[in-house]
Amino acid sequence: MNICVIGAGYVGLITALCFGKKENKVVCVEKNRDKLNMLKNGVPTIFEEGLEELLKESLNTNSVKFTDNLEMGIKSSDILFIAVGTPTKDNWDVDIGQVEAVINLISPYINKYKVVVTKSTVPVGTQKYITSKLLENHVSKEYFDVVSNPEFLREGKAIYDFFYGDKIVIGSESQKAFEVMRKLYEPFKIKMVLTNPETAELIKYTSNALLSVKISFMNEIANLCNKACADIDVIAYALGLDKRISPLFLKAGIGYGGSCFPKDTKALVKMSENYNCSLNIVKATVDVNEKQRVLPVDILLEHYKIIEGKTVAILGLTFKPDTDDIREAPSLYIIEKLLKNKVNIKAYDPMGTKKIKNIFPDITYCDGMYECLENCDAMIICTEWNEFYSIDLCKVKEIMRESVIIDGRNMLDIEKIKEANIKAYYSVGKGNIKN
Ligand code: UGA
Repeated sequence: MNICVIGAGYVGLITALCFGKKENKVVCVEKNRDKLNMLKNGVPTIFEEGLEELLKESLNTNSVKFTDNLEMGIKSSDILFIAVGTPTKDNWDVDIGQVEAVINLISPYINKYKVVVTKSTVPVGTQKYITSKLLENHVSKEYFDVVSNPEFLREGKAIYDFFYGDKIVIGSESQKAFEVMRKLYEPFKIKMVLTNPETAELIKYTSNALLSVKISFMNEIANLCNKACADIDVIAYALGLDKRISPLFLKAGIGYGGSCFPKDTKALVKMSENYNCSLNIVKATVDVNEKQRVLPVDILLEHYKIIEGKTVAILGLTFKPDTDDIREAPSLYIIEKLLKNKVNIKAYDPMGTKKIKNIFPDITYCDGMYECLENCDAMIICTEWNEFYSIDLCKVKEIMRESVIIDGRNMLDIEKIKEANIKAYYSVGKGNIKN
């Protein structure tokens, strides 16, 4: 099939390449010149498992063409995917300005029947709005159908998820559009949910909100565990044995981050208010997460009483391991709060340092975890990078000024902590040790 993907961001790029791999002819339109040049030359613009190989293969087989020529992209395609950003405003409303701009840009080029598909995460009612906009722009009613087709890709595993996801959600009012979408997705052999646009739009938000609820719920229970001498990991294991609950997304820690959960939970709360309907559980989820992500600083304040002038090592800056993405990472909020308390900060991350330097240029960045820990009064583990699991705790004890460890991701083995005679160890729901 002939496809045009508008926007070569994280979602657009993966969508274009994965459809290209399934014998479609894809044009991916991107207006950012630097990004475009990189992609044309086979250079990935984001860090994603398997992306470089897939990009090079797509260029070699000519299955995906990168261009800034929107007219050519639209006119040569039967299906148009809109994959532009939909950020959250300060008041938690979703900013669909980029989607609106795309609709205005594509309208003059819709010269025969096309399916206009929204991949971007958009609020309920957006497909209806897109339809009215296209009509307003004098696109003939027979020339288009509008479809909501949200994505459920995890960063880092997006290519895998595209090919082997659990579900494909397609929301439309048109049988003709359903048939086109069904044909497009048939080769993936993934279960399809066909529904109306509003339901499809809401499935995306509900999915991210429910996963966030699970995390915040476990984080609250973890905080109780610390007081009640219970072990959150054992609780999570036991709960996960119940098929009705599932073992996934029960890992306690210092909260969720990334470009999706924080944004989508807030947007859902705001959206519900616009419908005069209160989503108290989602609201509480956001609140719990905002407190949880600075928990390490609260622990530090409780431990030292005065932290001004102390030196603290931050291990891990990205919102999760195996990515260089720092958006909404707990580390950002921790660093901000530490700086407010006049703490000296040393930081180490295998991949996220470059991006975080733009936000906090004045803290000390290190090239390795041990260099980071040298002469520090405490360390905070913010991201569970693989290399931190094998940290040598005897060495830690030796090189830190005071071996105070706040393990925000429950990575370290309490028996080894005891053996190394670490001065203080704080976990999230697995107990604390103080010597
Ligand atoms: C998330 C969803 O998992 C995807 O299905 C969705 O498509 C995507 O958002 C999106 O809307 O685009 P992603 O943001 O890549 O994907 O990250 P996840 O791997 O889901 O992790 C999100 C956050 O939750 C991370 O900060 C992670 O540390 C935290 N988390 C996850 C926990 O604290 N505990 C857990 O048990 C699982």
